[in-house]
Amino acid sequence: MDGTTTTRAATRPPGTGTARPAAPRALREGAARVLAANWTGTSTVPSRALYPHQWSWDSAFIAIGLRHLSPLRAQVELETLLSAQWADGRVPHIVFNPAVPFDAYFPSPDFWRSTAAGRAAGAPAAVQTSGIVQPPVHALAAWLVHLADPGLSRARSFLARLHPRLAAWHRHLLHHRDLGGAGLAAVVHPWEQGMDNSPCWDGPLSRVPPARPGSFRRADLDHGSPRHRPTDLDYGRYVRLAADYRDSGYGTSPGRRPGFAVEDPSFNALLIASEHALARITAELGVPGTARHARAERLTRILVERLWDPVGGIFRCRDLLAAPPAGALVGERGATGLIPLVLPGLPRAVAAALVRTARGPHFELGGRCRLAPSHDLLSPSFDARRYWRGPAWFNTNWLLERGLRLHGGTAHADGLRAALLDTAMASDFAEYVDPYEGVGCGARGFGWSAALALDLGVAAEAVPDAYDSQDEGARND
Ligand code: SER
Repeated sequence: MDGTTTTRAATRPPGTGTARPAAPRALREGAARVLAANWTGTSTVPSRALYPHQWSWDSAFIAIGLRHLSPLRAQVELETLLSAQWADGRVPHIVFNPAVPFDAYFPSPDFWRSTAAGRAAGAPAAVQTSGIVQPPVHALAAWLVHLADPGLSRARSFLARLHPRLAAWHRHLLHHRDLGGAGLAAVVHPWEQGMDNSPCWDGPLSRVPPARPGSFRRADLDHGSPRHRPTDLDYGRYVRLAADYRDSGYGTSPGRRPGFAVEDPSFNALLIASEHALARITAELGVPGTARHARAERLTRILVERLWDPVGGIFRCRDLLAAPPAGALVGERGATGLIPLVLPGLPRAVAAALVRTARGPHFELGGRCRLAPSHDLLSPSFDARRYWRGPAWFNTNWLLERGLRLHGGTAHADGLRAALLDTAMASDFAEYVDPYEGVGCGARGFGWSAALALDLGVAAEAVPDAYDSQDEGARND
């Protein structure tokens, strides 16, 4: 996967395409305003009110947009996150800002107790973090940030300093999280996969006894409508899983099995996309003896073998605890199952089927839905405004735009890009939107919504119809 603004702009004549955003200048100014308001000096919060710390995959997506405003700030964003990496390689899903009071966000540092409960796993002593992870978008982000200003990157040894940390992060996932034994990384909490209350988790979560109501206080409802957020029952289960994981020393106690273990398509697709990016980083640094593109292609084959459903035309989640050791595929169709479209090595027939599924009755992308919903429109569990149970999100649609440009044709990709830009502006960079009406839900001035709209807006402004991905290696037909 490639396709940075610099690459595109350098290889195509400007102004030859059709999908110019309505107001590139307004978009740029609006996104810059959000990213400035959310900047803390060393990183960017997703939202001042709802998420007042640094989140792992948010920071990666934010850096991808921030590179257009300030390559330096984008580099610092990733450096700050990776400086909180644990000695076992994990990159924590939250890095806490000590200046923010504990009651501003739950679960707070006194719940995770990373410096004590994470000591055996090598949690840093100087900063408080959570103990779970989030999708590994970081090597991809680092590569795109580098390309925004290679001179600055080389002068600051940006990639040379990040490379060992990114390599350790991928090693952690591939070695410590291969709970199914097939080669894919498993998540042990819905917060790790990032689509917290997706109906894909309803089955796996039903086995988790919720924490006692009243044993914790949700801070999210101070800032978000209960109709748009996960339920109290969901939260009870999230808290139970996280507390049990903490009490196991964050996976370091032998013999303690997680209460939730799922192989997820988007988590693994992002790992594979980042493996491709790491291959480019190692080549740029001249690091010898690595064969990461080959590893990414092998992981792509395993992803297809393990999670592809040829009848449904979508990748499924594998619930490893449903029937150990191999587990069972989850019946719900989530947007997670479309995200592998970003992978260059996807078999042609699989890519074609994914494009049909995205545009068909379950997701209606380009039809009744201008942006892809987070969940199957035809599922009884679909809810157009409740977090990851139906609303459209900007990060998943940014990924789908890249996937469509790679496998689905320029016209579909241009249509999605235009829709994303319009919706981001009209909703004041909402956290997520109703997929039918585009009505904003959750936070406004949301970090990755602004950053990713900016990224697509800059690309559209520079070269509306270009995407140079031919160096992505062979497809597996
Ligand atoms: N997304 C989660 C929240 O809502 C945690 O990462 O707080």
